[in-house]
Amino acid sequence: MARSYVARSWSSHPIATSLLRLWLGATWIFAGWNKATDTGFLSPGSSHYIGTQLTGYLNSSPISFFLRHLIEHATLVGWFVMLSEFAIGIAVLTGVALSLAAFGGFTMSIGLWLSASWSVHPYFLGSDSAYAVLWLVLLLSLHQKSGKSGQRGSLRDSRIIPDVTDRREVMRLLGVGVAAVAGAFIGGTLKKKVVLPVSGTPIVKLADFPVGSTKNFQAADGNGAILFRTKAGVFAYSAVCTHQGCIVSYSASSHLIECPCHGAAYDPNKGAAVVAGPAPAPLAKIKVAIAGSNIVQL
Ligand code: FES
Repeated sequence: MARSYVARSWSSHPIATSLLRLWLGATWIFAGWNKATDTGFLSPGSSHYIGTQLTGYLNSSPISFFLRHLIEHATLVGWFVMLSEFAIGIAVLTGVALSLAAFGGFTMSIGLWLSASWSVHPYFLGSDSAYAVLWLVLLLSLHQKSGKSGQRGSLRDSRIIPDVTDRREVMRLLGVGVAAVAGAFIGGTLKKKVVLPVSGTPIVKLADFPVGSTKNFQAADGNGAILFRTKAGVFAYSAVCTHQGCIVSYSASSHLIECPCHGAAYDPNKGAAVVAGPAPAPLAKIKVAIAGSNIVQL
């Protein structure tokens, strides 16, 4: 029964629409799988962490005001993005709520274009704008009259809001949701174990880290940290804001460590003392030292 539904959804579209479905559906599932198996994507402090990625987009994105709000709930946003990618990919390949899935893919691609790819020049080197167009073409093709008969695609496929009075449609939507959660769960079980650095682990070679340098690294507690080298020596602070836990970063222009969420700023040359914003305490110190030719964690 379910197979015939999927088979019918493939046979009812022209080859161009099917090609788009195949490519976009497989790519979106792969994107969700990539995140589900990434040890860092949902781990604050990792360079792959969704919050770290969002923070990196703030300087160039035209929707930075919106991204700033998302950073406060970065882990939740990460889950939402991963599950949505799975759900959209599965829906497109199975033909469940096709128009809604295409609309979701289009919206997601526009969001990625305005954040992740906005700084890519020339624009055609970034793939998100191209994906937005592909999703739009798929969406339009589901609504377009086709063939000599001039017939529109099936009503079911062209409906953006699924018919929730149809019990079978609701069951199919639930099936897509369950499959998306299962994909995220299976991916999670295949994640590589994170090996946390132990005392004495080198962070960087001294020769590669001259006075005036800064570097992000993973502290022994698994969270991110920022290493500094000044004339006074080497020192490091946790990258976790003491206000509500957003990930801070060093600004070379202000010479301060800044939090993107609510504007806290810390002075790295004064023990990471709070110099602006709502943070209640300085950043936690991370013990580091020069050992031979390396800078190491203690
Ligand atoms: S989390 Fe609020 S200022 Fe950093």
